[in-house]
Amino acid sequence: MKTVLVTGASGGFGIEFAIQLEQQGYALLLHGRDKARLKLTLDALEHPKRHSFVFADLSSRKETEDLIDSLVGRDLYGLVNNAGFGVWGGFSAKESIAQADVIRVDLLAPVMLAHALLPCLIRNKGFMINVSSLAAETPLPYLATYAAVKAGMTFWSEAIRAEHQGEIRVVTLAPGPSPTGFRDVSGAPKGKGSEFSTPASKVVCSSLQALASGGGYCVPGWRHKLLWLIQKLTPRFISLSLMASYLKK
Ligand SMILES: NC(=O)c1ccc[n+]([C@@H]2O[C@H](COP(=O)([O-])OP(=O)(O)OC[C@H]3O[C@@H](n4cnc5c(N)ncnc54)[C@H](OP(=O)(O)O)[C@@H]3O)[C@@H](O)[C@H]2O)c1
Repeated sequence: MKTVLVTGASGGFGIEFAIQLEQQGYALLLHGRDKARLKLTLDALEHPKRHSFVFADLSSRKETEDLIDSLVGRDLYGLVNNAGFGVWGGFSAKESIAQADVIRVDLLAPVMLAHALLPCLIRNKGFMINVSSLAAETPLPYLATYAAVKAGMTFWSEAIRAEHQGEIRVVTLAPGPSPTGFRDVSGAPKGKGSEFSTPASKVVCSSLQALASGGGYCVPGWRHKLLWLIQKLTPRFISLSLMASYLKK
């Protein structure tokens, strides 16, 4: 049975990836930090005995390297670089360690994981899904580090996709807002939802459809596609001022 590693399998998109990849017949390596939370993911699956857990705080270089050491030699078919979080608020008001951790978890760890696992994924003619964000498409005041890191993720993932065309299918997934744990973890203002919000199930389903058609840059659902179009058409000086007032607490 082909095995897929899903990072951040204890959160919104991660749980959905686990459910939908299991339905496609994969065995899963479910990554997280917290066994109790990962067990909740396992409870949502049809064949819990088929899957196993791996643990690492991806903000820790040592734990990321230990995770990679434990994975090398495993015959993986797919990698879903999904774990991530943001820090919402004024850049200088927020701790620098938290902002550096956004870089470590959302960009550095996926790069390290991919570098270690690509030879095996390519050998198996497998796949990689990199969960980026529409935050990558425009600088975001009050989510400055997160948007910069996701821009890095999109550029990196798209470049890897071109480098390995024909060897491995790569999806760069760029969702907009979705009702997961993301807003609470990032410290977003309560009750300030988005009219562009799209369910996690739809987001993940779109990325797996993109994978089935060979990979690519995937903006899921019509609401996120509309948001992407607005981002593309709006001059930066306007979007900066709009986003600064929209995202300010
Ligand atoms: N929801 C959105 O609106 C949205 C939009 C665009 C992109 N995204 C991206 O989607 C991905 C998944 O996020 P989500 O929306 O599903 O949020 P979520 O529900 O908060 O899930 C985030 C996942 O990442 C894991 N994680 C966070 N920090 C970690 C760390 N230091 N080490 C290891 N794992 C860590 C969490 O594990 P714990 O359970 O241990 O905390 C959890 O499994 C992220 O990359 C996010 O940037 C989200």
